Amino acid sequence: MSTMKRLIYILAATTLFLAALLVYAQSDLTGYWVFRVPRNDGTFAESFFELKQEGGLVTGRSIQGTRENPIAEGTIGDGKLHFVINLPGRSGNAGVQVIYEGASAGGGKFSLTSKASAGNQTPRSGSLERSTKEATLPPAPLPLPALHDVPDNGLVRTPPMGWNSWNKFAGRVTAADVRGMADAMVSSGMAKAGYVYVNIDDTWEGQSRDAKGNITTNEKFPDMKGLADYVHSKGLKIGIYSSPGPKTCAGYEASFGHEDQDAKQFAAWGFDYLKYDWCSAGNIYKDDDMQAVYQKMGDALLKSGRPIVYSLCQYGRAEVWKWGGKVGGNAWRTTGDISDRWASLDQIGFGTRVPGQRTQLDIASAMKPGQFNDPDMLEIGNGGMTGDEYRLHMSLWSLLSAPLLAGNDLRTMIDEIKSILMNAEVIAVNQDKAVNPPKKISEQATSVVIAKVLADGSTAVGLFNRGEEPAQISVTWSSLGVTAKSPKVRDLWAQKAVDTSGDSYTATVPKHGVAMVKVSAK
Ligand code: GLA
Repeated sequence: MSTMKRLIYILAATTLFLAALLVYAQSDLTGYWVFRVPRNDGTFAESFFELKQEGGLVTGRSIQGTRENPIAEGTIGDGKLHFVINLPGRSGNAGVQVIYEGASAGGGKFSLTSKASAGNQTPRSGSLERSTKEATLPPAPLPLPALHDVPDNGLVRTPPMGWNSWNKFAGRVTAADVRGMADAMVSSGMAKAGYVYVNIDDTWEGQSRDAKGNITTNEKFPDMKGLADYVHSKGLKIGIYSSPGPKTCAGYEASFGHEDQDAKQFAAWGFDYLKYDWCSAGNIYKDDDMQAVYQKMGDALLKSGRPIVYSLCQYGRAEVWKWGGKVGGNAWRTTGDISDRWASLDQIGFGTRVPGQRTQLDIASAMKPGQFNDPDMLEIGNGGMTGDEYRLHMSLWSLLSAPLLAGNDLRTMIDEIKSILMNAEVIAVNQDKAVNPPKKISEQATSVVIAKVLADGSTAVGLFNRGEEPAQISVTWSSLGVTAKSPKVRDLWAQKAVDTSGDSYTATVPKHGVAMVKVSAK
């Protein structure tokens, strides 16, 4: 063979080898990936993976913030991808296996479907695409500001009253629902009863920010300014939602690194209330950082050019009642999420299922005008509890001076629900301007008596029956510190005077129910 021919052979062989290497490299799954599942609002839910391919075997991990789970049974062959993730069970629930099946879709992407091995969740289908390390792993924390006391914004001297979209609509809420709710707030009499804020919770956000870094809306909320103007035209106020992390709890765009810009945007749209939900900030910051992180938005809201009620949502961690007011907070969640079930209401309201856990009463003295503990929004009217349970809900939230944010569909309320949400005498206990801390007067088995001294010197009393049978519950005037011989007693639910003689009041209280009276000197 001539030298020339030999050279050509070597060159051709090298080229072939390189080409084969390139093909292999292209089909190698090793690296970061994102599974994008389209939602019904033009955005995508994203979940991330780091994969490693060795021959036909695929290993790696799923990465959701700081939560990581190893990939099992991973294989690739003939363009078909298969792997499973074993999600550990939480709070006593069994774990689930999620099975992923993919097929090459060209352009280095896969069409992917995920399906849980148990439960009746519908399979999720979308596209598996290359990601970057930066997009996959939680970002580094931002530098935290030095702590200082954010000046009082002067808003909501009594607990905020209004409506919030989450309990009823969760991720399905649309601008049309919000308009409908503003209409119904007026037509149902809720506005007259004192409800004023119409608050949009999570899932209004767009997929990504615009070229200037401004947060955008998704297809469900095409015109935020128009929506805010509409709500204002009804004489009401409007609220919005975000998180100090990169993503909200529902996985939408949030305010991390854009705190000032977002506060200005919310003000420019015309918002009057912000719920700021920790969520993915927990992947970046420690609980000890919460005060500084929340302070940042407190300052940003004050500089936004609009009075905006600031509602902290971090589930009562890091003893928020001790510093929520210092960061400019008007309210701070003191518990995890409520749900429309007696067990949830009982646990959140009385908080004694976990031994040693602080109850709402234990931290009630942290409140003052403009600064309120928030045991979460109302479930009244959502259908999962009885009328007695909903009356107990309203009574307890009123004695606790909790924000009264209705969470039901105001357009379709039956009369009983209206009578619970709009009882003026119970609302007056909630809106009492003294914001005195409620106190436990007595507790016997499942009967609890809680009282709050009102600004006019009278005392509001709730006689609560947490038990499964009707109960006779009594309260003596002396236990309330009422010195008048025969004080005036008014039944707040019935809105009528009660004839009493003697030194106490006794009511027969239904299962999971309440009697509520106001006691005043004659
Ligand atoms: C958290 C909050 C809820 C609600 C959802 C929205 O769970 O505690 O009140 O805002 O996020 O994703």
